[in-house]
Amino acid sequence: MRTQVGIIGAGPAGLLLSRLLALQGIDSVVLENRSREYVEARIRAGILEQHTVDTLTAAGLGDRLQREGLEHRGIYLQYPGTRHKLDFPELCGRSVWVYGQTEVTKDLIKAQLDGGPPLLFEVSDVRPEDVDTDAPRIRFVDADGTEQVLECDVIAGTDGFHGVSRPIVTGGGQGRTWERTYPYAWLGILADAAPATDELIYAWHPEGFALYSMRSPKVSRLYLQVDPTEKIEDWSDDRIWDNLATRFAHEGWEITTGTVTEKSILPMRSFVSAPMRRGRLFLAGDAAHIVPPTGAKGLNLAVADVTLLATALVRLLQEKQSDLVDSYSDRALARVWRCTHFSWFMTSMLHRSGDDFDAELQLSQLRRIVASESAARELAENYTGLPLDL
Ligand code: FAD
Ligand code: DHB
Repeated sequence: MRTQVGIIGAGPAGLLLSRLLALQGIDSVVLENRSREYVEARIRAGILEQHTVDTLTAAGLGDRLQREGLEHRGIYLQYPGTRHKLDFPELCGRSVWVYGQTEVTKDLIKAQLDGGPPLLFEVSDVRPEDVDTDAPRIRFVDADGTEQVLECDVIAGTDGFHGVSRPIVTGGGQGRTWERTYPYAWLGILADAAPATDELIYAWHPEGFALYSMRSPKVSRLYLQVDPTEKIEDWSDDRIWDNLATRFAHEGWEITTGTVTEKSILPMRSFVSAPMRRGRLFLAGDAAHIVPPTGAKGLNLAVADVTLLATALVRLLQEKQSDLVDSYSDRALARVWRCTHFSWFMTSMLHRSGDDFDAELQLSQLRRIVASESAARELAENYTGLPLDL
């Protein structure tokens, strides 16, 4: 088997890269070790920056997104006694969209299987080789158990945080990683309950952070800060709703409850690996970096990476110019660090940890954002997404 770009991993990064390359006449093969059902059912992010929406739309993936996506023109910041709306269009002229990562993935897979480049599910033992040469290859075992070799010009490692690509880039003492593990986790639920709010609510509370998000006019997505050692079995639906009601409490307002259809606990970490390239192997998305979810940057960052990478690969493979692949890692990392800082900032400001001194600092920062247009604008610009090149 031969292709121009061998892509490892069919998350949003790998699937979108394949699509962007196909639109420019570059062929690729996507290798995914899970089943289609598993990949489509994974519940993750829900907020798309304008740039992400524009990229998906320009790639011909905007139909359902335009019909079912919900434009959100702000967020509420809450702390006891205050629920304040940040109006994004007023502050920075942009907004964001609620459209689940599951839906983005389904749209990408449908387009791929509907005449797009090959997408192979349930492959195993995926091994990139000879990435320091101009003729790398990927060895893997296909779903029928047959050993295969995919000869490529370039390999894209879009195989997420636990993939096989990053260890090859950073292996042998090359490159560097940075990591921060946070002393809390998120308990997330999906519920058949009409959202009781027009915009997302980010709530600071003495008992811990809570986030009110949504997926549709009938489905709410809610998160609670919990200790990372908590077990989901110990959290009955009633216990979750009670905690949510306490943390979102606001005069004259009530939460709407409903059937919980999914619940899980997510660890929170920041992680950056540099460079995002070794020879002909390029990393993009969670394979190279992880942000804590507060501020919803993970998926958007993956889309930004592959937007840069697709342009660089087209230039390399069609015009035989290596300038854009040579600058890819530095350009991508500038944005990665900006989003890493913003996600850390939102996380540190909103989660309870430490002592009363820390709590007063957090409240002081929240009051500053509520009172100062320039502080609010800084948050709004980062939340809605900064330009591709910083
Ligand atoms: P992934 O989506 O991880 O895709 C990688 C793909 O590679 C997967 O399909 C995987 O099965 C496949 N793969 C892995 N190893 C191999 C291999 N060896 N061979 C072949 N295929 C392989 N972000 C937010 O902004 N908000 C959120 O609320 C949020 N919630 C999250 C909840 C969870 C549980 C997780 C894990 C992440 C969450 N994120 C969230 C982050 C966001 O979902 C990711 O940033 C986004 O999925 C990154 O896309 P990706 O394509 O880079 O990686
Ligand atoms: C969602 C997740 C986030 O991390 C966030 O900041 C906002 C919304 C969500 O899953 O809807």
